[in-house]
Order: sequence, then C-alpha cells, then structure tokens
Amino acid sequence: MKKEDLKHGLEGVAVAISSISYVDGEKGKLVYRGFEIEDLVENSYFEEVAYLIWFGSLPNENEEDFIKSMLSKKRNLPENIVEMMRLFPENAHPMAVLRSVVSMLGMYSKEDNSTLENAINLTAKIPTIIAYWYRIKNNLPIIYPEEHLNHSENFLYMMFGELPEYSKCFDKALILHMEQGMNASTFASTVTSSTLSDIYSVITTAIGTLKGPLHGGANEKVLEMLEEIGDIEKVPEYIDNLIRNKKKIMGFGHRIYKTYDPRARILKKWVQEISAHEKVDFFDIAVKVEDVVVKRFKDKNIYPNVDFYSGILYNHFGIPKEFFTTIFAMARIVGWTAHAMEYRKNNRIFRPRSIYNGPKDLKYKDMKGVEING
Ligand code: ACO
Repeated sequence: MKKEDLKHGLEGVAVAISSISYVDGEKGKLVYRGFEIEDLVENSYFEEVAYLIWFGSLPNENEEDFIKSMLSKKRNLPENIVEMMRLFPENAHPMAVLRSVVSMLGMYSKEDNSTLENAINLTAKIPTIIAYWYRIKNNLPIIYPEEHLNHSENFLYMMFGELPEYSKCFDKALILHMEQGMNASTFASTVTSSTLSDIYSVITTAIGTLKGPLHGGANEKVLEMLEEIGDIEKVPEYIDNLIRNKKKIMGFGHRIYKTYDPRARILKKWVQEISAHEKVDFFDIAVKVEDVVVKRFKDKNIYPNVDFYSGILYNHFGIPKEFFTTIFAMARIVGWTAHAMEYRKNNRIFRPRSIYNGPKDLKYKDMKGVEING
C-alpha cells in the first residue's frame, strides 16, 4: 500500500449502504427516510421522528402509542446508579458523566442486548441522566420523570421543575440533531457495533466521540467564544486574530456541507424570531461573526454548521453551556442506534489499514548498546 492510497480522515470514503438519511452537501439538504428536515421540524415531534428513523416509516396511531409508551415507561435509572452519581466530582463534565453512566448501565443488562428494544430503553434514560446530573451538581433535589409528559417536556421538567413556554422549540431542535449520515460519532459507534459488542459499549463510544470540539463539542466552544468576544465591535479583530494564528473558528465548516448547513439556517431563523420579541444574549455578536467568517472564507465555502446557533438557543432557555453537547447526544442516540442495527443486518467487522512508515530491520540491543544476537 502506498501513501497515495491514503484517504486522510476517510474523506470521500463510503463505509456502508444506508437508507436512514441523505445529506446533499452541495444543495444544503438533509433528508430523514425520504422526508426533508424542514418538513419534519414543521409538522412532527421527537417520538414520531424517532420512530421514523428506527422503523423506516412514520407511525400509525397504534405505533405512535407504542413508541410513546416505550419511551415514557423506561425513563427511571437504577437507584444505586443515582447514589453513585452523587459521589461523582461536582466539576465532572456532563459529557463525561453521560458517557460513564451509560457505561454503568451496561452492567445491569444481559450481554446479548443490541436490540431495538434496548436502543429505545437507552434513549429513554439519557434525558434522565443529564437532568439528574444537573440537579445533583447544583445541590438541587432530583425531580423524577413524569410518565404523562412527552420526551422533551419531561426532560425540561426534570431539569427545571416546570414546563417552559419554549418546550416545543426545544423538541424541534432535538429533531434537527437526530441523524446526519456517517458522521464521526455514528461511524465510531458503528465500528464498535461491527465487533458484535453490546449496545452500551456502542453508545459509550459514540458519546466519547461526539464530545470532541471538532464534532458535537463545538456548541459549547461557540458560546465560550461569543462570551470571550463580548462586544460586537470586537468581532473582526477577534476573528482575524484566530485566522492569523491558524485556529479553527468553532461552529463553522463541515466535511459534507459546502454551503449553508440547513440545520444552522433553521436554528438561526428561530433565534431571529425569538429576538424580535425579547433580547437573546449573544445573537447580535453571532450574526456579526457569521458575516465576518463567511467573507474571510468565501473561497473555501465555510458557513455556520449546526453547532453555531444551537448554543445561543439553549443558553436563552437557561441551559448551562457545559450541558449543550449532552442535548446533542440525547437526540443523536436515535441515529447512532439506527445505524448500528442497520449495519448489523449485513455485518462485517471494520478493519482498515495504516501505511507503515517507521524503521525496519532493527536489531535488538541491550541497554549498553550491545547487540544481543549480533
Ligand atoms: N475555521 C477556520 N478554518 C476552517 C474551518 C474553521 N471552522 N473549517 C475548515 N477550515 C479550513 C481549514 O483550515 C482548511 O484550510 P486549508 O485547506 O487551507 O488547510 C479547509 O478549511 C478544510 O478544512 P478541514 O479541517 O480539512 O475540513 P474537515 O472536513 O477535515 O473538517 C470540521 C471539518 C472538523 C467540521 C472543520 O470544519 C472544523 O474544525 N470546524 C470547527 C469545529 C466545528 O464547528 N465542528 C462541528 C462540526 S458539525 C458537527 O460535527 C456536529
């Protein structure tokens, strides 16, 4: 194998055949199971789109009852896991907590567990893990799940103890984050699944991969950047400084989208609509950042991605920035599990190669430099 054969970062390499979602990076389109994302966020809700992604078609009434009841009945965590969470360091990052608790849940399950039922079970529990950690970390009493509330309402209720007016918008933001083809975390988790490992290992892999700032972790970094800029007047100098120092601007660029990410467009529109009625912190700075970055990178087709405006929305909803990526995971688990199970139907272990460029034919020497078998 030669160096020229290398596809750095697997760019352009197809690793699976999938009917789950379609991304048109030139036109800026995202389609789940044949439905455009704009159509789904306008007309649907979390449970329905999750069903669509897992089962391949929108649910009828019975199927809707089934998915709603599965997702609402499985929300509770084993009490001793909750007790262990109380012992976690209070500064533990929420993504580290989520990754660890998902892994711990694997100890409570039988080994042969990569079933759709277990995927739904884990999807139901993730909001509980996030909300419990928010309450524990802030020395607040835990709020247990409420079966009569839907998936996203119940999460916000467990976090804040009330149903905020923005819960519908939050639900739609989850739909936007649910699925996106063979992205880094989906690929990583599909690799784990391809070894026939269990679903908890698959999702632990995915969470660890999503956490990175080049992937889902960018939403937290975007808010950090906007806080650091602090003043719309400082935007051009701040961005030019990053460019001079060859630093990535968080929330911009994408491997597949070479035009505006449709999810960023929708999120920006929502924030714009809210800001027509009330002040949305950092929105004016963000719009200026977008303006400057798009101008500076007009030859490279770099536009805002999904992580650029999502944090502004979550921040407006009162969600602390270190929790942003857990919200992403809460939605993306649907895509992760759908891909892991789809790949299993025609499973083959992933085993690519690396091109060796190190030394060969060295002879073993002892610590004094004397060749042993010379
Ligand atoms: N800021 C500055 N320059 C950028 C950015 C950016 N955000 N994104 C790409 N570029 C430049 C690169 O420097 C590179 O320039 P060069 O050809 O002169 O060397 C060129 O555009 C191509 O960039 P790559 O990093 O090679 O693109 P790749 O497809 O490997 O990476 C990625 C995509 C990781 C998303 C990248 O754009 C990036 O780091 N963005 C910032 C982090 C981010 O927002 N991540 C979230 C992505 S969305 C998601 O995962 C949910």
